[in-house]
Amino acid sequence: MNVYDSERMVETLEGQGYIQTDKAENADMILLNTCHIREKAADKIYSELGKFKGIKSANPNLKIGVAGCVAQAEGAEIIRRQPMVDLVVGPQSYHKLPQMEARIQTGARALDTDFPEEDKFNHLAARSKAKRGPTAFLTVQEGCDKFCAFCVVPYTRGSEVSRPADLVFSEACDLVDRGVREITLLGQNVNAYNGHRNGLSGLIWQLSEIKDLERIRFTTSHPNDMDAALIDAHGKCTKLMPYLHLPVQSGSNRILKMMNRKHTREGYFSVVDSIRDARPDLLLSSDFIVGFPGETDEDFSDTLDLVRQVGYGQAYSFKYSSRPGTPAAEKVGIDPILANERLQELQTLLTSQQHAVQASMVGREVSVLFEKKGRSDGQLIGKSEYMHAVHAVAPEHMLGQIIPVRITKNMTNSLTAEIIY
Ligand code: 5AD
Ligand code: SF4
Repeated sequence: MNVYDSERMVETLEGQGYIQTDKAENADMILLNTCHIREKAADKIYSELGKFKGIKSANPNLKIGVAGCVAQAEGAEIIRRQPMVDLVVGPQSYHKLPQMEARIQTGARALDTDFPEEDKFNHLAARSKAKRGPTAFLTVQEGCDKFCAFCVVPYTRGSEVSRPADLVFSEACDLVDRGVREITLLGQNVNAYNGHRNGLSGLIWQLSEIKDLERIRFTTSHPNDMDAALIDAHGKCTKLMPYLHLPVQSGSNRILKMMNRKHTREGYFSVVDSIRDARPDLLLSSDFIVGFPGETDEDFSDTLDLVRQVGYGQAYSFKYSSRPGTPAAEKVGIDPILANERLQELQTLLTSQQHAVQASMVGREVSVLFEKKGRSDGQLIGKSEYMHAVHAVAPEHMLGQIIPVRITKNMTNSLTAEIIY
């Protein structure tokens, strides 16, 4: 979502005469968009800010801002720790960037971490009309009401809000006019989307009417919000891709309860079974947290067992990170060495599943949406419907198109393919 938010911030500042640059040295303003989900991500911003010191002393007019969830969570503390920062803006207030920019030009500082009444999307600058790459993110839902015991999202992004389906539809049409063929619908809890009378599946069916929109994905989901209509859409909507990120976090019922996940491992298995009944070739992905306070060897082996039973196409796993203000932060963590060992063991298992799935793709025909040129001559790179990165020797006019290919080789992080002519 930070990628999407950054695009919208850039477009909003274009109204103030700014253009985007890849080089910090050329910038009149540097805006760091930040993540607060784990301690490591949040700490990174201070080392990043430190790197701009030299540039700022060479160009005293340079303005530096911090946006995103660290801005939301730490507010004025950021300016206290790093006085070079001119502007701090939370994820619900970035439509106010033009006023804030005018304020910092007077030499003052600007800070806004409100959860305003108005919907920021109705106050942002119109989206650019410029041609763009074939894939795009589109935020449809923000915030979370689930309150998992370890997670800052309900505090940094606020409570669940859905954008009205018709506004999402017109933004999607604009993106498709600009060359987009695949849209990933975003929300912290996207399958709780209620901006369409039939929920997320209603929105997906409505978007599937857009002629040149060929692929739809969504992320990220909570198992309890995978309703029957959404599962059915996975079976019937040909534009909805056969890949689903469905975080479970732990395979232990005891830990799931302590995490306040509001589902059991059996509940998760039953959702997975229904989805696979609807779409047998669908690849699943998940997030896992190891070393949650109180996690025993037995709890951890329940997680490994769940992974073996489900079988993932890929997955993300993290060591538990204590986050200020969350209920779990009150509890004593487990031995960090043990947490590291568990993370290694889980990652080894997940990687072996990923490689087995990749190896099973060799010889299969899939379709690839080519997104960019590869490193070697004549090569294009894109994603298959299963989210695998695929590269093939292909003519350049195939960029931005969905092309049938046959997988010929399994590389570590991607697949090699040949075009089926
Ligand atoms: N510690 C470790 N991982 C976390 N996540 C969220 N909060 C924490 C935390 N405190 C992970 C979860 C979530 C993903 C986005 O980040 O697995 O699904
Ligand atoms: Fe955080 Fe996801 Fe739980 Fe919401 S459902 S509190 S975003 S982990």
